[in-house]
Amino acid sequence: MKQKQFNKSLKQSSKNWIKRHINDPYVAMAKEKGYRTRSAFKLLEIQEKFKIIGKGDVVLDLGAAPGGWSQVASQLTTRPVIAVDILDISPLQNVRIIRGDFMDQSTLDQIINIIDEEPGIDVILSDMCPNTCGIKKIDHMRIVNILEEVIQFSKGNLRGGGSLVVKVFQGGAEKDALNDIKKCFRKVSHFKPKSSRNQSSEIYLIANGFKNAP
Ligand SMILES: C[S@@+](CC[C@H](N)C(=O)[O-])C[C@H]1O[C@@H](n2cnc3c(N)ncnc32)[C@H](O)[C@@H]1O
Repeated sequence: MKQKQFNKSLKQSSKNWIKRHINDPYVAMAKEKGYRTRSAFKLLEIQEKFKIIGKGDVVLDLGAAPGGWSQVASQLTTRPVIAVDILDISPLQNVRIIRGDFMDQSTLDQIINIIDEEPGIDVILSDMCPNTCGIKKIDHMRIVNILEEVIQFSKGNLRGGGSLVVKVFQGGAEKDALNDIKKCFRKVSHFKPKSSRNQSSEIYLIANGFKNAP
């Protein structure tokens, strides 16, 4: 009886999400392989095509919760992965977790303190996706701000030859970001993993060969 009332109160969009989730092969595969998210397969596809993470690389994973990408990254490198998110991430082997907002200076300071113990960052991953409020202009601004901050941080902290993988949303903002990234990296590609849902406007920019070492 209680279950019935709960289902009735669900919005159609939530019902559609549950239906998609139940029938999603990547959700089943993630469960089977012990990944915390289906998103883990996006990074696996990126790795297979672009070979961005090498064995001894220092990897910074931005927007890491609940930890699917960090799981994948920590299987590819022997060095600890640095995982950052506003949300809590439960502990993972070979992953150093920072809970904080990437847009706050105090979080950047914590990242930099850790990097100082390492030889530098070889790979920056950003799967960050800001909370949306439904007001197009504001949502767009948030996405652009976060993207600009990731690019800025990468310019200042990536090692020469390093790589950046950043999620962007098609619809304008990514064009400026792409131009900016193209100036600093030898090769930049757009990639939509098969595991990224068709309905989602997300794509990833894969930038290799950072030119300006800090
Ligand atoms: C799509 S999820 C990441 C999923 C992750 N790659 C995985 O496989 O588990 C996006 C994450 O970005 C985080 N995020 C959004 N804005 C952020 C910010 N300003 N600072 C840190 N994390 C942020 C969210 O909290 C959310 O956990």
